[in-house]
Amino acid sequence: MKHIDSKKIKLHRGDITRLNTIAIVNAANKTLLGGGGVDGAIHRAAGKHLLEECRTLNGCETGDAKITKGYNLPAKFVIHTVGPVWNGGKYNEAEKLASCYQRSLEVAVENGVKTIAFPNISTGVYGYPKNEAAQIAIREVHRFLEKNSEIDEVIFCVFDNENFEIYQHILYS
Ligand code: AR6
Repeated sequence: MKHIDSKKIKLHRGDITRLNTIAIVNAANKTLLGGGGVDGAIHRAAGKHLLEECRTLNGCETGDAKITKGYNLPAKFVIHTVGPVWNGGKYNEAEKLASCYQRSLEVAVENGVKTIAFPNISTGVYGYPKNEAAQIAIREVHRFLEKNSEIDEVIFCVFDNENFEIYQHILYS
């Protein structure tokens, strides 16, 4: 396996809307027209122009990603991805969640984004088991960084205690 500079992957606990990475990722829904959780927080912090731009995107499929500007956020861009709803694990949830990370990173590279922060996609309202979701997230980011040198920094931005402990364990123990 090609060596990855582990300094490229960081764990941060807190509100993703405060981060000043070039892009932050939104755990959105297929409409891209806002919602609760991290999606609601991002729309509130970015301001109404974010919703206006999202209306022009015609939604997004599960596992895909689309980019907008960040408006009032410190981040220049928001990459909106749609995680799978957990339905017991037999509906390709793992592939779809992996695709969220892959597609978000591809869209980042296409737009010259060098630093990016991810929330724990699907682990809130969408009910994905947190440990399984974290394994997929970290695996996919590693795989991407192995093949692409364009991204300088990926931050896993965790919000709740359980995810924080899970990520700390996988990344540092
Ligand atoms: N910063 C970082 N992470 C956060 C924040 C924040 N400000 N707020 C919550 N989280 P969720 P999902 C974490 O429910 O499961 C929305 O209504 C939270 O602790 O936001 O992908 C959308 O419109 C959890 O770990 O997203 C969709 O309808 C993680 O973000 C649906 O929810 C994801 O939780 C998507 O559900």
